[in-house]
Amino acid sequence: MQEKIEKLKQEFLEGIKKVATADELFVLEKKYLGRKSEFNEILKGLKDLSPQERRKIGPLANSTKVEIAKMIEYKRQEISAGGNLEKERIDVTLPGKRRSVGHLNPISLVRAEIEDIFTRMGFEIADGPEVETEFYNFDALNIPKDHPARDMQDTFWIDSEKGILSRTHTSNVQVRYMEKHKPPFRIIAPGRIFRNEATDANHEHTFHQFEALVVGDDVSVANFKFVLEKFFSEFFKQDIRVRLRPSYFPFVEPGFEFDISCTVCGGKGCRTCKGGGWLELGGAGMVNQNVFVAAGYPRNKYQGFAWGFGLERLAMMKYKIDDIRLFHSGDLRFIRQF
Ligand code: PHE
Repeated sequence: MQEKIEKLKQEFLEGIKKVATADELFVLEKKYLGRKSEFNEILKGLKDLSPQERRKIGPLANSTKVEIAKMIEYKRQEISAGGNLEKERIDVTLPGKRRSVGHLNPISLVRAEIEDIFTRMGFEIADGPEVETEFYNFDALNIPKDHPARDMQDTFWIDSEKGILSRTHTSNVQVRYMEKHKPPFRIIAPGRIFRNEATDANHEHTFHQFEALVVGDDVSVANFKFVLEKFFSEFFKQDIRVRLRPSYFPFVEPGFEFDISCTVCGGKGCRTCKGGGWLELGGAGMVNQNVFVAAGYPRNKYQGFAWGFGLERLAMMKYKIDDIRLFHSGDLRFIRQF
């Protein structure tokens, strides 16, 4: 008897697979659950079984009947829904797909931190265009057309006849800002810059700088050194000293390059600073009076300092990145680490 039930169920399962229309389903239902169906015969025959057998076969027959009825019902819904129920079934117990959330590029992180530190020191954040005129990028900064300093900052020219270029430094912001503001003021101007550069681990054609410009009646080199030491000590979360070396930029007088005490050994000398205890960082100086004049200020009325250096350099030191080209590589293995 048990075998018979199981065989019937097996047949039913085969049968229902082939059912595609409501009519076919009706026929199937009648065959297996109808009054004259084999199943009914079995149920009717239960009474002739011994009580022992009945206890065993009864529940099996019943549960099989219920199961068949459910499958028919399910199939009926599937047919009326256009036959796609099975495909559309959602397994709510499956683990979800994690949505990937974006995050900031290390350059943006460093920039935000710089802006935060300088804002707390009373600086304003200024901005300037990446596509610039020759005037603001060069002439106004005391770099006339034939000046050799232009060679060091070759760039991508947008229109050389009209003198439109991709800015080579954030110093273009200096005169733009001064034309619209009167001293005293202190600003920083972070942004993207461009150079015609043979790229290697330390050089990129497109990178970021941040400029500082502080102008007033009695702004001095001592102020410059203090502000810079404060900033670096905050940024690297350790005491940093700044060292000035004489250097030349046409838009400052005197001009210097500055180094900071090595962030790895603190100045004792190690591999990172090649034993010297100092790391080269950027250019700076006291604003050349010719730049004030280009901005429309009277000569010798104000004094101030300016500096400019690479954001990538800072990010590389902070996060121990050994190749500047990684920033623009689009390599997710790199970018996901931040
Ligand atoms: N603009 C200079 C450079 O890109 C850096 C600099 C800025 C130097 C301000 C002096 C003062 O090399």
